[in-house]
Amino acid sequence: MTPDARACAARVLVRVITEGRSLSEVLPAAIQVLADPRQRALVQELSYGTLRWYYRLDALLQRLLKKPLKQRDADVRCVLLVGLYQLDQLSMPQRVAINETVQATRTLNKQWASGLVNAVLRNYQRQAADLDDEVLAENIAGYAHPAWLIERLQADWPHDWERMLMANNARPPFSLRVNRQRVTRAEYMETLAEQSLEAVSLEHTVAGVRLEKPLPVELLPGFTTGYVSVQDGAAQLAAGLLDLHPGQRVLDACAAPGGKTAHILESEPGLAMVTAVDVDPRRLTRIGENLSRLSLHADLVEGDAGEPAAWWDGRCYERILLDAPCSATGVIRRHPDIKLLRKPGDIASLVSTQARLLQAMWPLLSPGGMLLYCTCSVLADENSGQIASFLKTYRDAAELPIAAAWGRECRHGRQVFPGENEMDGFYFACLTRSV
Ligand SMILES: C[S@@+](CC[C@H](N)C(=O)[O-])C[C@H]1O[C@@H](n2cnc3c(N)ncnc32)[C@H](O)[C@@H]1O
Repeated sequence: MTPDARACAARVLVRVITEGRSLSEVLPAAIQVLADPRQRALVQELSYGTLRWYYRLDALLQRLLKKPLKQRDADVRCVLLVGLYQLDQLSMPQRVAINETVQATRTLNKQWASGLVNAVLRNYQRQAADLDDEVLAENIAGYAHPAWLIERLQADWPHDWERMLMANNARPPFSLRVNRQRVTRAEYMETLAEQSLEAVSLEHTVAGVRLEKPLPVELLPGFTTGYVSVQDGAAQLAAGLLDLHPGQRVLDACAAPGGKTAHILESEPGLAMVTAVDVDPRRLTRIGENLSRLSLHADLVEGDAGEPAAWWDGRCYERILLDAPCSATGVIRRHPDIKLLRKPGDIASLVSTQARLLQAMWPLLSPGGMLLYCTCSVLADENSGQIASFLKTYRDAAELPIAAAWGRECRHGRQVFPGENEMDGFYFACLTRSV
């Protein structure tokens, strides 16, 4: 491998760590310029992995550096973190990891730092066991999470917080949803087996499959022709909870990129209509692309779900899915940059946005209809706390119990923990409006 992958990963990390950009914004453009798919895969691995273990690697680096690096040398700091990640977490030969990381300083035009990078990484090699003991004794470095999040999880989940933190540090499974309008799950799994792609069905889902090894989507049998989509198992629970029937009008209020919209349409082809709303025009385009690949149709609306007067036709919906914008603390294993990008102050403003959306959606629900509120958060304020406040204010709202073999029953609604049955962390609450 050439040193370009390490330098490229360091540049990606600078944008995330110091500029606060998300990996999904930065990484695709950064790897597009690399011709070799193995290099692209390596940059992805180094970027995701370094962010997953950032709080541990940062603690190690602080102990290894005699004095902190200048702000303008953020790229050198990031290449050091990438180097430590390889030595600490990957099974590649250490000599290769060190040499290639030292070489990367040249690609970054920071030749002066090659001696420093070499010395720090070799020192780490020598002291790894002692340093490991030291950082494991600290909460932030030991769990590789920011302090505020550890504290919040300890407060919300006094018996489960540690398990959740560990699950957040694991690599996520590669989960698929079979389009049962085209093929049964068993048939699709046979096709996978014929192509020697090892897979198991996802528990608690009717269409979920986990592939043992991730694969570029274009290589999935039947992907381009709409036989299958990439979707986590917990996200696949939403369509089932909606209890869909022919003739219903369904609103998907925060729909992009359309994973749940598509699953709703696949689950009940006899629906009268599905309206998919999203405030972000670029993300709305992705719903169109995803539905067209699956040969499905929904009415796509660019609009604020909190201001339905601008787009609503005045006819109530029997089903509303509100997959609200949230802290995404349930999907950290898929998006490790959340550990750095999410700030404690964000939570109160997310809670107030969610409340605004819930309130705005409520008058659009038919009496006797169902609103499914869900988030990919594990924080009580965004979940059961949100529903508790809503039920206190809206006397015509009642909670429908969720009888399920998955998740944990909360004061209101049900919480799936990250990693449980291989699923992401997700929260669901079903509300109905009195007739
Ligand atoms: C959790 S994602 C939805 C994921 C989607 N339901 C799926 O399964 O593919 C939340 C979405 O809410 C959208 N959003 C945020 N605020 C909104 C608002 N005020 N009105 C409508 N959509 C909004 C975001 O653009 C984002 O696409």
